Amino acid sequence: MGHWTVNQAGKSIVLIGMMGAGKSSVGRCLQRRTQFALLDTDEIVASKFGLSIPEIFSKYGEQVFREAETQALREMAPDKQTIIVTGGGIVLCEDNLDFLKRLGVVVWLDSKEETLFERVARSGNRPLLQRGNPREVFAQILQARLPLYAKVANIRVDTSVLTDEEIAVAILSKLGKLGRNWRPGSPIPATAR
Ligand code: S3P
Repeated sequence: MGHWTVNQAGKSIVLIGMMGAGKSSVGRCLQRRTQFALLDTDEIVASKFGLSIPEIFSKYGEQVFREAETQALREMAPDKQTIIVTGGGIVLCEDNLDFLKRLGVVVWLDSKEETLFERVARSGNRPLLQRGNPREVFAQILQARLPLYAKVANIRVDTSVLTDEEIAVAILSKLGKLGRNWRPGSPIPATAR
């Protein structure tokens, strides 16, 4: 995406959305296409603890994970355009909404609830779904988060029927329409939404 690179110096692409939305794999596609750097809050937290995300949850609990996640986001200050992949719960901390917006264009990868759940159930490594009835827990978590994703996102992409590569192309095409004067935190023109 030459236009984006040339016109939008210093602005990152921030991927948000529920578990199973495809943030990590779309992030890798975007990275390949743009040659931007890639940062992932889950990876930063996991490497800080030297543990996997499920291990952090079981050893220290969700609260400790959330604090580390917020700190990872707060400390992000990329000096070049970066693809930033976030954990699905990043929006739970109110302060994070501002941190996300400050970093660049916030892109919400959304999908049908059933599709999201199927993807997550297949992978089996989401500690939040290890209690009660996972399907019901998932529905509750999603309902609580939808307004938060909607509030912070500049752009929403429905990923239900698209491949990761198609999603990356859709995102870059929307970003190409932003224009050179757009700044993080500003409204997105209707043509780019
Ligand atoms: C979480 C999502 C996970 C990870 C952790 C908590 C959540 O990341 O941060 O298991 O609360 O939705 P993904 O969104 O990449 O699955």
